[in-house]
Amino acid sequence: MTRIILIGYMGAGKTTLGKALARATNLQFIDLDWYIEERFHKTIQQIFSEKGEDGFREIERRMLHEVTEFEDVIIASGGGAPCFFDNIDYMNQQGDTIYLKATPETLKAHILMGNNKRPLVKDKSPEELINFISESLNKREPFYDKARHTLNIDVITRNDQIADYVEQIKQIANIQ
Ligand code: S3P
Repeated sequence: MTRIILIGYMGAGKTTLGKALARATNLQFIDLDWYIEERFHKTIQQIFSEKGEDGFREIERRMLHEVTEFEDVIIASGGGAPCFFDNIDYMNQQGDTIYLKATPETLKAHILMGNNKRPLVKDKSPEELINFISESLNKREPFYDKARHTLNIDVITRNDQIADYVEQIKQIANIQ
């Protein structure tokens, strides 16, 4: 049974690499944020504005416990998930955790490239964003560093870079 859990900051490439990894293996891909949105029929933004971040974290924890029941899956966790409650220890018990580690500059570039609806960063100017990322990454890194494996991510914009990271993850997690 294989269960890979990709963790890392917003914009690290968890969803992009998780989907590409699923295509290259016979594993199913589950994005924890999407799973929450489907289960609750609400967007992450709506959950944040209705229940606040604390309410979101409670839901996120419960849904983490649901998705880790599935077997032969790649789970992309939300950026904050490993940093609340005992989630990172739980993830380490349930699967092969891989920290996708990137610099604040790379994370910022990826966040700005996407259609940014993330509640924690959507209203920030580029200058505010880099400061916010640097500060919160400092606080979060002790949790991320507990992952079983770490993969350093440079900018992922080209398909050949994605394919290369997919190969590296396959080797790290020892999957075919
Ligand atoms: C968050 C990251 C988001 C999402 C929510 C909060 C965070 O997931 O769970 O907006 O606290 O870092 P992604 O990392 O997939 O963007």
